[in-house]
Amino acid sequence: MHDTPPDRDALDTDTSGTADDRIETLLGELTLAEKVGQLNQLNGTDQTGPAVGEVDLDTEIAAGAVGSVLNVDGMAARERYQRLAVEESRLGIPLLFGFDVVHGYETILPTPLAEAASWDREVARVDAAVAANEAAAAGITWAFSPPCDVARDARWGRSMESSGEDPFLTAELTRERVRGYQGDDLTAPDTVLACAKHFVGYGDVLAGREYNTVDISETALRERHLPPFEAAVEAGVGSVMTAFTDFERIPVGANRELLRDLLKGTWAFDGVVVSDWNSVRELLPHGVATDEREAARLAVEAGTDVDMVGHVYTAALEALVADGTVPESSLDDAVRRVLEAKRRLGLFADPYRYFDDDRRDSVVGSERHRETARDSARQSMVLLENDGTLPLSAPDTIAVGGALADEGTDVLGEWRARGDGDEAVTVLDGLRNATDADVTFARGYDRFGEARPEDRDELVETIEMADIAVLVVGEPWEFSGECSSRTDISLPGDQRGVLEAAVETGTPVVAVVLNGRPLAIPWTAENVPAVLDAWQPGSEGGNAVADVLFGNVNPSGKLPMSFPRTVGQVPMSYDELPTGRPAETAEPGWATSYLDAPNDPLYAFGHGLSYTEFEYRDLALDTDVLATHEALTATVSVENTGPVAGAEVVQCYVRDEAGSRSRPGLRLAGFEKVALEPGETSRVAFDIGPERLETWTAAEEWRVEPGAFEAFVGRAADDLRLSESFTVSE
Ligand code: GLC
Repeated sequence: MHDTPPDRDALDTDTSGTADDRIETLLGELTLAEKVGQLNQLNGTDQTGPAVGEVDLDTEIAAGAVGSVLNVDGMAARERYQRLAVEESRLGIPLLFGFDVVHGYETILPTPLAEAASWDREVARVDAAVAANEAAAAGITWAFSPPCDVARDARWGRSMESSGEDPFLTAELTRERVRGYQGDDLTAPDTVLACAKHFVGYGDVLAGREYNTVDISETALRERHLPPFEAAVEAGVGSVMTAFTDFERIPVGANRELLRDLLKGTWAFDGVVVSDWNSVRELLPHGVATDEREAARLAVEAGTDVDMVGHVYTAALEALVADGTVPESSLDDAVRRVLEAKRRLGLFADPYRYFDDDRRDSVVGSERHRETARDSARQSMVLLENDGTLPLSAPDTIAVGGALADEGTDVLGEWRARGDGDEAVTVLDGLRNATDADVTFARGYDRFGEARPEDRDELVETIEMADIAVLVVGEPWEFSGECSSRTDISLPGDQRGVLEAAVETGTPVVAVVLNGRPLAIPWTAENVPAVLDAWQPGSEGGNAVADVLFGNVNPSGKLPMSFPRTVGQVPMSYDELPTGRPAETAEPGWATSYLDAPNDPLYAFGHGLSYTEFEYRDLALDTDVLATHEALTATVSVENTGPVAGAEVVQCYVRDEAGSRSRPGLRLAGFEKVALEPGETSRVAFDIGPERLETWTAAEEWRVEPGAFEAFVGRAADDLRLSESFTVSE
């Protein structure tokens, strides 16, 4: 499966020979300089990376020296540049317009990590479709999304952009996101080219420090980081973006094995490989190139098609081809991919198809999209603790505290494209929208958690007079995202001190956490009666928080990434190897451990409470012996045994007892979200086939190695309810 070209969804709407002929004809008409131009991506207004040399966009576009432009502000500017390209340049080849539409364009959906907490494939697809609809309606044709990074280190700021620590969950959601962005027809006015990023291994930056080296094994690369990208290619993703980072000390943008041999070769990826911001030029500080010529040669030969804002291809590629250093066929392959992307988007047929003021005005920021954002946010929230304080039961007075409760910008998170904090629903707004109770507000502490004594005292006074306190704690949005790694992932500033003072008043306290990454909140877990993780829930976040706090929605979110007790434990994940001295079985004092902390997380992968209860019964396998190429079906009954309706994410894990390499103690093999009325039972089935059992063996191949296995079902990696054994035989 992994080493044969994956089955491609027929995303190409027009595979007739005429389209290919047109591309070849056009390719034949391009001069060498114009070919290089197609591989040159310039920047518009937003700066999403370090400053790069200024160029005159109008001049470059009119000269046919640009193939795509990112970060252009507004449809009018995009249309003006398109007219320049089509009407002024010699061959009139239209431009692609790229933008980081990562979790929405104007209507902002929950961040990718928050959305992953829904464990809902449909939510992932629909959110991407909303993002694509608004982006395309604004004249954008290329969304630099979905992020496919697998993250185990909460210090890394871009954990917020990942789907957490598990390759399978990330792969499943990636598949749906690609389908959401690209739909079935890239020429349709509500679809855009997607971009699987950042290929590959970026989530394992050493020490969680942004842009740091990635020092992992080939097995970790193949079992942890590659699966989501493979899923994206299988779903027909139109482009892939290279990571800033290296693998085995070769930056991915110059890594021929990864790009040309694996991605474009074995996987038969026929889309565009675009560098990340300036990362072709950054081959120099990486120390693998000493000048622009070498950087250009390494990148284009490795398989990087488009140079994002590096101005390296335009500086050196024409001469490299002219003097025979780089074969023109390598250049042609890259140009062909770019032209094909433009064809698939219908830009040759009508380069102005994505510029329609009426469509933009009716689609962008629509009420329907806001409703989708609210529903996705509801589904993403994770109830971490609850002693019964939630759902709120008609309090007369609610005291709300924390500057984060009243800041629209902090429910949006990073990569908000054109989302506007002033248009977002804050937690305070959401509570006031949802109840006739008296909702008081005192900041208590600022966005960074700093509490002036007078502010803290004022908040405590309001809490003493209230029936319930809702304190919004966590991170301001700038504390996570790109170049926002942190060595301290506890609550910033004096938030914990204010929480302590609030708890001491005797008024029941609910903590609502706004966070981009997992936080280490052991005191809060221990002492605050109810804790709801709302992540960065997007434009409708405040309304969704209120929906959950008042019980209009029963929370069903599950953690896609472990929450550590302390930053000293990271990187951590549920699928760690057992080691030769497992904590569970080795002699105490000689087991894998710390002196000053337990091994287990504060909250496990898959953790999430509900306002109801679920019971698991009758796990059955349709066989307990299967051959390496066969699959089995595991079925389990899940009953809602509690008082209210709710959705349960039923999780299936497998354990492979032994093999040619040490393997994780648990691997997620399936998940299904089922909605159940009180008393209702559902029989849930999981197909466990070779792709869920195979590993990268010591013989350096994907294979299911025979032996003893165990299948588990349950509510979380640390809350497994039932298990059955089975054997795989040759
Ligand atoms: C940034 C990010 C990448 C983004 C690109 C363009 O540095 O790494 O995710 O798509 O540049 O904004």
